[in-house]
Amino acid sequence: MTLRLGSIAPDFEAKTTKGDIKFHDFIGDKWAILFSHPADFTPVCTTELGLVAALQDEFDKRNVKVIGLSANDLDSHEKWINDINEISNVDLQFPIIADADRKVSELYDMLDHQDATNIDAKGVPFTVRSVFIVDPKKTIRLILTYPASTGRNFDEILRVIDSLQLGDKHRITTPGNWKKGDDVIVHPSVSTEEAQKLFPKGVKVVRPYLRLTPSPF
Ligand code: BEZ
Repeated sequence: MTLRLGSIAPDFEAKTTKGDIKFHDFIGDKWAILFSHPADFTPVCTTELGLVAALQDEFDKRNVKVIGLSANDLDSHEKWINDINEISNVDLQFPIIADADRKVSELYDMLDHQDATNIDAKGVPFTVRSVFIVDPKKTIRLILTYPASTGRNFDEILRVIDSLQLGDKHRITTPGNWKKGDDVIVHPSVSTEEAQKLFPKGVKVVRPYLRLTPSPF
């Protein structure tokens, strides 16, 4: 099954560093970020998980639960978390799925058999750097895949969460490089006349198809 934006995130049961979970129950009525990394005790991944741990308050503020994954076992994850905490001076609290049998990685298409930069010594693919943002209805709202060589920018993931959550509340979209507090774009489905009523802070018509309004945050 190919996962797309708009697909329901497949449910699964898994062992994690915070106990056994059923993914949909884990999400509950919150948002979720499911992200995978190639392997425990690898340098880029260590910095990434340290960053995510440091951003825990930012995820909490946005009602987002975070869960990591690699195809390593629980014992390995637990030892690695000690390293991450020490190196990044954090207290990593989010669960990491122990997907040694690769069931979840297969389900979420996190194994790229064509990527020669992300294989172990035996030629077996590691999990890629995937990110899935899932909303409270369990719908996939963002899919990202990064190469093994490049650590992800988790400020960007937070930025997308801000955009998606704002767009779910108001009839707006967000421009390139937008960040929380910047002007937003009136959704194309809203007429300019309707926009004047919906957005009392004002509507600036740059072109009939590009109308800006101050952020409703
Ligand atoms: C890393 O996390 O540093 C890494 C993992 C797999 C391949 C290359 C780099």
